[in-house]
Amino acid sequence: MAFLVAPSLLSADFLRLGNEIEWINKSEADWLHLDVMDGIFVPNISIGFPVIKSVATKLTKPMDVHLMMLDPQKFIPQCRDLGVHILSVHYEACPHLHATVMKIKEAGMKASVALNPHTPVEVLTDILEALDMVLIMSVDPGFGGQKFIPQACNKVSRLKEMIEKQGLDVLIEVDGGINMERGQSMLEAGARVLVAGNSIFKAPDPVEMIKKMKALTP
Ligand code: DX5
Ligand code: ZN
Repeated sequence: MAFLVAPSLLSADFLRLGNEIEWINKSEADWLHLDVMDGIFVPNISIGFPVIKSVATKLTKPMDVHLMMLDPQKFIPQCRDLGVHILSVHYEACPHLHATVMKIKEAGMKASVALNPHTPVEVLTDILEALDMVLIMSVDPGFGGQKFIPQACNKVSRLKEMIEKQGLDVLIEVDGGINMERGQSMLEAGARVLVAGNSIFKAPDPVEMIKKMKALTP
């Protein structure tokens, strides 16, 4: 069964960003995951669009952008102009989620909705058919290197069931505390995209770590 691995740039060495992009390009990574935070929806601020613009000039992998912010719809045109492949907005940050998802798709990007750890997957029942992906957070969003929340695994299984019941083809991405072991159980539960920050970037050989993750057999 095919699945994707997306290293999360949040754990990169920002002093050496160009070098980090070079090895990511040469690795077996499928996407690059980029976290954008506003300091309001989440208690942290990461990188913004000028940095993503520079990354995009060198990166050869598709960009998987995770907006952890209120009013994410404001930035849809900017993400499109930067060539973002797939854009995740948070369910908890979008009162008009359907309209926001439609705007992402009209802009030519794949649309994904992210769920915080406390948000049940069932809230997506009536919008699932419009989505390309659901991002299940397995930590509270905002920081890399946090402790994995095991309940996320059960959410992935339930979401997989919902997707199959509706006969849809929606990817499930997991993000937060993913390493080889957690990646394995998430894939077994039905995940199709593994985001990993610390476990890849802090590994002695990040390229080799991605290779090992890609070799998991769910
Ligand atoms: C956390 C971010 C993640 C983060 C994951 O809010 O959404 O993408 O970089 O980092 P790890 O894999 O270290 O938990
Ligand atoms: Zn993320």
